[in-house]
Amino acid sequence: MTGEGERDGHGVLERFESPAGAHAWCTAVRRSGASLGFVPTMGALHEGHLTLVRRAAAENVRVCVSVFVNPLQFDDPADLEAYPRDLDRDAALLAAAGCKMVFTGRLSDFFPGVAGPEAIPRRDPGPCALDLEGAGRAGHFEGVATIVGRLFELVGPGRAYFGAKDFQQTLVVRHVARELGYPEIVVCPTSRDADGLARSSRNVRLTPAARERALALSRALQAARRAFAEGERSVAVLEALLTRELARGDDGTPFEVEYAAVRDPELWGAGGDSAGPTARALVAARVGGVRLIDNLALDEALEGGASKGGA
Ligand code: PAF
Repeated sequence: MTGEGERDGHGVLERFESPAGAHAWCTAVRRSGASLGFVPTMGALHEGHLTLVRRAAAENVRVCVSVFVNPLQFDDPADLEAYPRDLDRDAALLAAAGCKMVFTGRLSDFFPGVAGPEAIPRRDPGPCALDLEGAGRAGHFEGVATIVGRLFELVGPGRAYFGAKDFQQTLVVRHVARELGYPEIVVCPTSRDADGLARSSRNVRLTPAARERALALSRALQAARRAFAEGERSVAVLEALLTRELARGDDGTPFEVEYAAVRDPELWGAGGDSAGPTARALVAARVGGVRLIDNLALDEALEGGASKGGA
């Protein structure tokens, strides 16, 4: 369906299969003077995404969502191939959450006139792209910055919403927004299942045993937070604690820690030996072949609300 409304009892959700139609819709919304909130996604939506959409709907007159599995940010073709996709299901969930327009497209639609993926000019992801996710996944943040910048240009939102689960990504996105001069970046707390597992589109690929083992990520972060609350400030000690906690509960499920780190978002790579009041613990692991990430502010008070920034 292209540019047709879909009625499901929650109002009309416009759907566009190309960014050109979406751009025209967004331009009309902005010209009408209505505020426009934007939630970029790769689809396979879960409660975490819907929380962002509901928040955007509460803060803006119109909300639109992109569903695009961006090849530029995948360094592993098998991961790109395995990424779950179900646009009809996503559209029904979005309509119920208050989204008014969803769009998708092919990579070539987002960068028309460019000879091929290699020729797409990459956007600089900024200094926070180094290390952790940036170290382990070649070109990942360059790919994120490139598509996010393009999406911002197409949509022209006043506010864009991101989840804190991809914490390092929120730093990259803030960098892109600062370079462009818009939009306001709204970072919402990580959405979790009742047992603490951070919601992720990849969770559907976990077997029951791997899902159980994956709880080690949020448990390790909580343990680091407890140690911080009890006065521990040594980055080395907190990182050793994270690593130790991740190893607990080994039941034979393949589990490979990629990093267990404490970083201050203000300093990032230049962080010192001591964890300051804004420090976060961040972990990444492959659990039963599925790559998962999670993070937590060490000072619990910082987790409560959304933090804003950007332009
Ligand atoms: O977080 C995501 O789903 C993606 O990285 C994003 C921001 C939609 C860019 O492709």
